[in-house]
Amino acid sequence: MRTPIVAGNWKMNKTLAEARELVAALRAELTRIAAEGTVQIVLCPPFISLPQVAEMVKGTPLHAGAQNMFWEVKGAYTGEIAPTMLNELCDYVILGHSERRQYFGETDETVNKKVKAALAHHLKPIVCVGENLAQNEAGQTQAVVSTQVRGAFKDLARDDAASIVVAYEPVWAIGTGKAASGAGANAVIGLHIRGTLAELYGEATAQAIRVQYGGSVTPKNVAEFFTQPDIDGALVGGASLVAADFIAIAQAARERALRAA
Ligand code: 13P
Repeated sequence: MRTPIVAGNWKMNKTLAEARELVAALRAELTRIAAEGTVQIVLCPPFISLPQVAEMVKGTPLHAGAQNMFWEVKGAYTGEIAPTMLNELCDYVILGHSERRQYFGETDETVNKKVKAALAHHLKPIVCVGENLAQNEAGQTQAVVSTQVRGAFKDLARDDAASIVVAYEPVWAIGTGKAASGAGANAVIGLHIRGTLAELYGEATAQAIRVQYGGSVTPKNVAEFFTQPDIDGALVGGASLVAADFIAIAQAARERALRAA
């Protein structure tokens, strides 16, 4: 059975003071939700708040994560952050988010380099894949997510692959308020993402890898995703910035885990 994982991707939001305030508002309730180990909860603030957030969740079952990372461990790479800096602070790192692909030139090749560097330095990657609106409308969803999965997992051994979390985030659903349907997201994840992973690593490994859904997840629509067999949690943007909303989504993941147990 796969443990559901709910991650909050704060994107470029919250000052230091606001980050402290948000974690203070989340911490007690999320700790209670994550305490039995039925669900994992990850907070991914901007780099600058990461030390503070990591400190605030220390000693709780909550995890901190980064939103990006460079693949080299040190050197003349102005503005970049190394895996060896992150692994002192956090357990997870989001890689290949569509906003990084769209605005910052991230490619399947650079995502693969980052995945390998993360794994080499004991960080768990959350690898994002998903088609944009034009690709969706052209019927290219399967080809796009399959290519992205193959690219991100290129040359990875089975054990490493099994430790990765994949997030299916259709670009047209991100920040638009137009979430995918539960059944639609489940089909892409089950058939195309797990299907591709099964071709690469076999059915058992594909069944072990966790795949989240992301894109306009809210407390209102979350049940639609968490009642699907192939969806193992959520990568939450906007709703992760509102304490009550993120708590409600985490609670729904816990209820999913308890139903499955
Ligand atoms: P929203 O939940 O704001 O649509 O963002 C989803 C996302 O991109 C999370 O990584």
